[in-house]
Amino acid sequence: MIKRLIAAIDTPELDRAAGLVRALSPHCGLVKLGLEFFLRHGPAGFAQAAQGNAVFLDLKLHDIPNTVAGAVRSLLPLGADMLTIHAGGGAKMVAAAALAADKAEKRPKILAVTVLTSMDAAGLAEIGVAGGPPQQVLRLARMALANGADGLVCSAHEIALLRDAFGAKPILVVPGIRPAGAALGDQARVMTPEQAVRAGADYIVVGRPITEAASPAQAAAAIAASIQ
Ligand code: C5P
Repeated sequence: MIKRLIAAIDTPELDRAAGLVRALSPHCGLVKLGLEFFLRHGPAGFAQAAQGNAVFLDLKLHDIPNTVAGAVRSLLPLGADMLTIHAGGGAKMVAAAALAADKAEKRPKILAVTVLTSMDAAGLAEIGVAGGPPQQVLRLARMALANGADGLVCSAHEIALLRDAFGAKPILVVPGIRPAGAALGDQARVMTPEQAVRAGADYIVVGRPITEAASPAQAAAAIAASIQ
């Protein structure tokens, strides 16, 4: 049975990250480490925090194809299970990342980020993209999947759109998840863990509702139980 919960360990502090990973790893399929942590502690900190657990390394790479391929190769020795790239880098960049990952002994899944959930239609218009988020998400998703991405990071509200367009195969990883009654924080359009999994999410990413709970382990266990 796949463990669909990914706990987002969003802290720049090494001890806190390692403690959270120890507490949460029994309840999740993966833990997510991102830029905030990795830019401060690097590969050595990654290993100390990860402690051998499966990691979603969310660095959202975006550069020319050659540089992104090199970045992926530099990350491969860490043994992360999932890496993120920005689909907006273009078809050649996605293909270069996927090809670089193929060289790994243990190949990480390459997940493409389409439109950041912080972008709305007005934000897209400002960077010259007409038509609004759904069209742009579909356009970038189609391109990324055709060029070797294994899946997509998407908002819960895009799951149905993406499953309709691309079927069951792409891995869909979905942040912006809030258990019923949890504080929204800065997330505006959320779904509960159950709703997102029912809609077709392969994995859900949950941060603050777990990390800021009185008992992070209990919070993670409750979410994990709710989606079994
Ligand atoms: O605390 P919270 O549950 O909102 O954390 C969600 C995690 O998912 C954070 O690490 C955030 O950066 C990440 N994320 C997101 N929305 C995206 C992509 C990633 O919230 N579109």
